[in-house]
Amino acid sequence: MAKDEQEQAEPVEEKPAKPSRKETKEVTRRQFNWLALAWTFFAASTAAGLTAMGRFMFPNVLTEPPSTFKVGFPSDFAVGVVDTRFKEKFRVWVVRNETEMYSLLAICTHLGCTPNWLEAENKFKCPCHGSGFYMSGINFEGPAPRPLERVAISLAEDGQVLIDIGRTFKQEAGQWSDPASFLPMA
Ligand code: FES
Repeated sequence: MAKDEQEQAEPVEEKPAKPSRKETKEVTRRQFNWLALAWTFFAASTAAGLTAMGRFMFPNVLTEPPSTFKVGFPSDFAVGVVDTRFKEKFRVWVVRNETEMYSLLAICTHLGCTPNWLEAENKFKCPCHGSGFYMSGINFEGPAPRPLERVAISLAEDGQVLIDIGRTFKQEAGQWSDPASFLPMA
């Protein structure tokens, strides 16, 4: 009997209740959401950082054609012919006549469109508003207020014709008499 009383007097240790399966699931999902959010943030920050570093190391560089280039030897150009080979890349024509070679900028002096050389009509014609220019570059029809501009032309050391589109010459300003605006042909 005394033994029974002793057994009864001992405090019963209560074990903490186990979280239910639903609660465990809830906690796990919440942890997962935070973890996913943290990883997303980390990944986004890393991507942004790498992009910025890439831009810094490989900046956007516009690859433009050089302003000075060789077009061949004077003998490569037929007399009385407008050479249109350099129009697309450099926006110039090269012309040789009996007395000189010169290069015209393919930019209409009205509003800047690109004229075309019309072999059959022996003239440059602007497709935008119809301005026309002689082979010399002088304007004769349409709204263009002045002749086409020449660009610098010279002979390189190897005897090839060198064009420099970074330097232009205006006829109306008397600049076509500048020795850099034409190559005399004997
Ligand atoms: S831009 Fe050439 S005629 Fe107007």
